[in-house]
Amino acid sequence: MDSFYNSLLENNKKWVAEKLGEDPQFFSKLAKGQKPPLLWIGCSDSRVPANEIIGAQPGEVFVHRNIANMVIHTDMNMLSVLDYAVSILDVKHVIVCGHYGCGGVQAAMTNNHYGLVDNWVHHIKDVYRFHKIELDAINNEEERFRRFVEINVIEGVQDLEKSATIQAAWKNKQTPSLHGWVYDVANGIAKELITIKNY
Ligand code: CO
Repeated sequence: MDSFYNSLLENNKKWVAEKLGEDPQFFSKLAKGQKPPLLWIGCSDSRVPANEIIGAQPGEVFVHRNIANMVIHTDMNMLSVLDYAVSILDVKHVIVCGHYGCGGVQAAMTNNHYGLVDNWVHHIKDVYRFHKIELDAINNEEERFRRFVEINVIEGVQDLEKSATIQAAWKNKQTPSLHGWVYDVANGIAKELITIKNY
């Protein structure tokens, strides 16, 4: 039998018991609705679980994840998440979090074919092209890869800033602040690369 799969519902029962042990009202409070202060736009990579790496509890983070944490201005999924989070939930912060060792970013540095995802990776290749002079000047391939991960995050934050949702929000209020982070899967440390505030 598949012991990994079979353990999942058991794990869920243990988690529920643990949470209720800490706070008997834990789930009944969450059932009343959500007011998360943060929107997280991260990579789908299994090694970068949004809530866990920042110690956030259920109810604290609205999450959107895609391959290589891309902010694409025609992506209706991302735009809908962004608009709902900013206009309705009134999040105070948006974090775009990339990570070193990102397979999507690495794929964009090659001409290898991976199937359907090649179409998505094409957007990341555009980011490389915009920053080709800086990136091509880095001789060490690992260093170039790391810098490309960082640039992809910064580019994503700047794309958010230009979005209609953020521009409309900033006409009426100071929030949300936009942040770009990079996470290192090799040591668990996240660091801030850029912050853009409306004040
Ligand atoms: Co990734």
